[in-house]
Amino acid sequence: TIEQRIDLLLPLMTLEEKVGQMNQYNGFWDVTGPAPKGGNAELKYEHLRKGWVGSMLTVRGVKEVRAVQKIAVEETRLGIPLIIGFDVIHGYKTLSPIPLAEAASWDLDAIKKSAAIAADEASASGINWTFGPNVDITNDARWGRVMEGAGEDPYLGSKIAVARVKGFQGETTADLAKVNTIAACAKHFAAYGYVESGRDYNLVDISNSKLFNTVLPPFKAATQAGVRTFMNSFNLVNGIPATGNVFLQRDILKGKWKFDGFVVSDWASVREMIPHGYAKDGEDAALKAVTAGSDMDMESHLYVAELAKLVKEGKVKEALVDDAVRRILRVKFELGLFDDPYKYCDEKREKATIRNKTNNDGVLDMAKKSIVLLKNDKNLLPLKKSGQKIALIGALANDKNSPLGSWRIAAEDNTAVSVLEGMQQYKDNQLIFEKGADLIVGKATFLDEVVFNTTDKTGFEAAKTAAKNADVVVMVLGEHGFQSGEGRSRTNLDLPGLQQELLEDIYKVNPNIVLVLNNGRPLTIPWAAEHIPAIVEAWHLGTQTGNAVAQVLYGDYNPSGKLPISFPRNVGQVPIYYNNYSTGRPVNVDKNVFWSHFSDVEKTPQFPFGFGLSYTTFDYKKLKLNKTTFAKGEPVQVSVEVTNSGDYDGKEVVQLYIHDDFASIARPVEELKGFELVSLKKGETKTVNFTLTDAELGFFDNNGNYLVEPGTFKLKVGGSSDSGLERGFEIKE
Ligand code: IFM
Repeated sequence: TIEQRIDLLLPLMTLEEKVGQMNQYNGFWDVTGPAPKGGNAELKYEHLRKGWVGSMLTVRGVKEVRAVQKIAVEETRLGIPLIIGFDVIHGYKTLSPIPLAEAASWDLDAIKKSAAIAADEASASGINWTFGPNVDITNDARWGRVMEGAGEDPYLGSKIAVARVKGFQGETTADLAKVNTIAACAKHFAAYGYVESGRDYNLVDISNSKLFNTVLPPFKAATQAGVRTFMNSFNLVNGIPATGNVFLQRDILKGKWKFDGFVVSDWASVREMIPHGYAKDGEDAALKAVTAGSDMDMESHLYVAELAKLVKEGKVKEALVDDAVRRILRVKFELGLFDDPYKYCDEKREKATIRNKTNNDGVLDMAKKSIVLLKNDKNLLPLKKSGQKIALIGALANDKNSPLGSWRIAAEDNTAVSVLEGMQQYKDNQLIFEKGADLIVGKATFLDEVVFNTTDKTGFEAAKTAAKNADVVVMVLGEHGFQSGEGRSRTNLDLPGLQQELLEDIYKVNPNIVLVLNNGRPLTIPWAAEHIPAIVEAWHLGTQTGNAVAQVLYGDYNPSGKLPISFPRNVGQVPIYYNNYSTGRPVNVDKNVFWSHFSDVEKTPQFPFGFGLSYTTFDYKKLKLNKTTFAKGEPVQVSVEVTNSGDYDGKEVVQLYIHDDFASIARPVEELKGFELVSLKKGETKTVNFTLTDAELGFFDNNGNYLVEPGTFKLKVGGSSDSGLERGFEIKE
């Protein structure tokens, strides 16, 4: 067995070799060229040859991976293969929609398939470990990494976490040995989505209730789905860095949840415990991280420098090191790396897999499913397929780079199908494109701040002329793909640059506008929400963006996405989320100011969680429960009839919410506890059934104990968090 093989290997390893397994380096030299000379690179190279490196990240491509693996396998004393990590976050070279967009599909099978495509492509290119899925729940659109997660809800987030883990790894751990699966990584453990004010890397000060009920469930779900690795996070959690957090990593993850894979630090997060003010120096940081259960050091270079010494001085028990190494070796064995270290290094397969048709078809399917129709007054959409004059306006409409989104390090620039290219395929309409104004100045890159054009309006007049002469105007506006993501926090969520001004100017000459949004986070668009008749949320949809958008605009695909996160009316409402708390003064009973509200904006979001339209309509009827009073532990059976009452075949995400009226710890006003994606032909009715068990009806107290308490509950079933049919029921002791 794997454990026996580890038992045989561990005693052969020197302390330094064990510590080496816990050391991860970023790709540091051009592996196709000569060995590096001088500086850090030479040192790292020496470490690699000594067997002091257990993993490398960002090395990609069969040729490159083979070269580093060859050093590990052929030049080191024990020949232990490297595990090769990479951020396969939304695809590898064929890019799928950003994860937040995929979450909007609420389509777990499609999400799983999308992760499987990414795994297939990445593994064909030498990679066997992805730093995903990101299962951070967040409700702060200011935080740039909101694009990487599944939104604001722990129930939806948990389901998606499982789908992604299984998509990457396969159904069971045994599938990890297949050549087209890769190890997944649940990150960032924990609470990174609650960085104060949405500023990246900021502190997290979080209640136990939020931690246990909102933050941890997707991580637990990922563990139960068999995720093989975790990544901890940059932030403090109530004063203690996640990387040095014994409570999170030892007590909960490896203790309570019995996680037997390994934990990698985030980039330099071991060292960052020094500026956090938690570790005195490098030695102290290494000691605290390993004690807390961080098994692998990503790019802090501290384990390799300090750990052996710490063990020899008796400050760290060798058993801790052995445990970490055992975990790392376990995953390497499970991947089959010891049986064939070059199994992911097949040039022929790489060539046949990268950006092949199957992958392109797969991401197109995912992209269409991710689109959310936010408004469609006067049925402006779908567009007629012939005889219309359409003005397509906005620099993003002709952009082949921005739609690739933020995490696309492996992708070639400008490889997305633009919206213009997508729409040009519908040839029986007259299509005129005008950018109106450049969105950005210079080139947007992964590392640099995006600079917006705020002055050059020379394209405005041409755009206005095109709009004036058109039947319908399609405007593609929003954020550049590099405007959300890591390090991309914003205090302003409005359309950036000159886009709002352009939108209002065009509206003056032709109000028949379809606004297609490109964004990695909720934007604040109050003016557009009021004035623009049709709004399509198209996120950053990856390689097939233009085809997906065009098929939705022309009605070849009926949109069915629902928002996985609330869209605020203005940034001052943030954090705004559907599963909020009532307060003692939820409504304006006394008709004065003394109730919980803002004086200058409505209390509700612009677009709520779970909201999304279709070209057809759905009616809900006959919400039934099998009983109204239940004994504790008894399942609650719910059924509802849903009818497609409109003119198109379509899909609806039927959502079930509960509210626990009173509890020993106050519960949110509503919580998603079930959903089902149903396809309904025009005129068709289906009965949708749900079962609520203890798993849905309880909550965690402030000590992390799960409780199901007797009392009365409300239940709501509908097509959005803000609407539906309601019933009540009671749980008795
Ligand atoms: O995986 C990422 C992480 O999410 C942020 N810091 C860098 C890591 C490796 O690229």
